[in-house]
Amino acid sequence: MNVCDLAVGGIAGLQPYVPGKPIEELQRQYGVKDVVKLASNESPIGPSQAAQAAIAKAIRDLTRYPDGNGFALKQVLAEKYQVEAGQITLGNGSNDVLELIARCFVSPEDEVIFSQHAFAVYPLVTQAIGATQVEVPATAFSHDLQAMQRAVTSKTKLIFIANPNNPTGTYLSGEQIYAFLQMIPDNVIVVLDEAYVEYGENEFNSIDWLQDFPNLIICRTFSKAYGLAGLRVGFALSHTDIADLLNRLRQPFNVNHFAMSAAIAALGDEDYLQRARQVNAQGMQQFMDGLTAMGLSYIPSRANFICVDVATDAADVYENMLRQGVIVRPIASYGLPNHLRISIGLQHENQRCLDALATSLNNEND
Ligand SMILES: Cc1ncc(COP(=O)(O)O)c(C=O)c1O
Repeated sequence: MNVCDLAVGGIAGLQPYVPGKPIEELQRQYGVKDVVKLASNESPIGPSQAAQAAIAKAIRDLTRYPDGNGFALKQVLAEKYQVEAGQITLGNGSNDVLELIARCFVSPEDEVIFSQHAFAVYPLVTQAIGATQVEVPATAFSHDLQAMQRAVTSKTKLIFIANPNNPTGTYLSGEQIYAFLQMIPDNVIVVLDEAYVEYGENEFNSIDWLQDFPNLIICRTFSKAYGLAGLRVGFALSHTDIADLLNRLRQPFNVNHFAMSAAIAALGDEDYLQRARQVNAQGMQQFMDGLTAMGLSYIPSRANFICVDVATDAADVYENMLRQGVIVRPIASYGLPNHLRISIGLQHENQRCLDALATSLNNEND
């Protein structure tokens, strides 16, 4: 007997999510010091002082379970986003919420729609359930919303949209998404994953749409612009009925005490957010200029990373950059074998990365 045959749904067929290479692993592997990691879309500016102070204060409560309802964090989020606390579902990162949504609404007979080149967790959670993955071809590296709408059938239960999308950084306008939502039947759940929304100019507020669309779920995270990836905290905003279902399903203490304390502090640290946005905008410009000077094309990005077409097998370029102590992200698994995804870092990190990229491309051409 093969125990793998005992696993439910599509678990035996799962390919585990591959995270960016950890700095320590590269140090061990190649003996390089002074590693620059621009591979996981993390904040390059270190955590907010306010968040650090909140964690220091929270240490004294370590013997206690965290507040299972996340009351204090939900209050602050409700105030900030002008929603009811009952519309919020907290998660151990927004990944947790994405998985909860799939488990809550999708059964093996159902179909789940997402775009080609979209965030890897959407196929992963769908596969785990054993449901049918409907991957809709992208247009110019972005979601083709019309084609996604045409892909809806009587079996469609859930649609994932990432805006901006990871790994491409592409962005859909408010009008495009609103028009899409109007076309989707209300028995299909639409997840609008806005993990990188804080880096944009906020031309529209998707939260306003929750009143119009009871089937809409908006996911956000503290991992990116708020700089708390290591703590794991994210959330969903939705109709109270959906939040009620998700809150029944989630583990009682899925978000830890440090994460909630730091998230509350981070929400109040407007200066940190501004600095994160500013450093990102400057670094993005630095990369766009540097890549253009090297004659490389890139996908215009609204997030904290940029996807560059290295016009050759990106796996080799990635390896070569690793040996120079720079970790970026190859994205062949996203159907982009000639692209590298580079997270925006501090100015000197970005320069190291551009230099390493130039060196490895020169080596390729020798
Ligand atoms: C589009 C998108 N959604 C969700 C996440 C999950 O973030 P977290 O679980 O850290 O909140 C990520 C992380 O990279 C992402 O790129």
